[in-house]
Amino acid sequence: MIDSRIKAVLNLVRSGSRVADIGADHGYLSIELIRSGRASKVIATEKNGGPFEALSKNISGVEGIEARLGDGLQVLSAGEVDTICIAGMGGALIKKILEDAPEVVQSARQLILQPMNGADKVREWLNQNSWIIVDEDLAESAGIIYEIICAGNVTLSQTKIFKRESSPLREKFSAQRLEKLQHVLSEMSKSDTARASEKFSVLQAEVDDLKKIP
Ligand SMILES: C[S@@+](CC[C@H](N)C(=O)[O-])C[C@H]1O[C@@H](n2cnc3c(N)ncnc32)[C@H](O)[C@@H]1O
Repeated sequence: MIDSRIKAVLNLVRSGSRVADIGADHGYLSIELIRSGRASKVIATEKNGGPFEALSKNISGVEGIEARLGDGLQVLSAGEVDTICIAGMGGALIKKILEDAPEVVQSARQLILQPMNGADKVREWLNQNSWIIVDEDLAESAGIIYEIICAGNVTLSQTKIFKRESSPLREKFSAQRLEKLQHVLSEMSKSDTARASEKFSVLQAEVDDLKKIP
């Protein structure tokens, strides 16, 4: 059975998509994308030799998945896929992978991003690059709640209720985030410079907002 984090990523992929699974590792997402019929084709990429070997082995016999060894989106050409999934990496790395391949990113219609941390960096990048967040979800794996962000290009945008809004994990996620931010603020408070920084004010504002949630 696949992990609920990977399942939540999969559920945001539109049926019939041509998908790039970046940093595919074991290939579970790629395999499930094909088996479930969500994707008509998957290009699964890996930067590192070890995971690439595991990926190649796991996908052997599954038609519709092609494995490529290389950095991020560098091994793709513009127009090869319409959906890009990047899951299980830090927000800063996700941002860099997107930044390094503007033509491939611009040719896609859907980005599904699941940062392990630094989701704010991903949101900021999307905002600065004219991508609109069209859906979001939360998923819990081994006691940690992850955010999954789905962005579309302007023509796809529409008003809808995000999966995240009705997620049973919403309250627990807010409580975990509040605890984490309070810890960060308490550490930052030990330094006058950190306390006077813009980051401190931004985090404090988020804490204040989280405290307002009933
Ligand atoms: C923690 S795993 C996540 C695997 C899978 N995507 C998931 O969500 O379960 C991150 C994978 O990304 C790969 N990776 C890291 N940087 C990468 C890059 N720049 N391009 C492609 N793959 C990368 C690593 O080798 C590793 O296998």
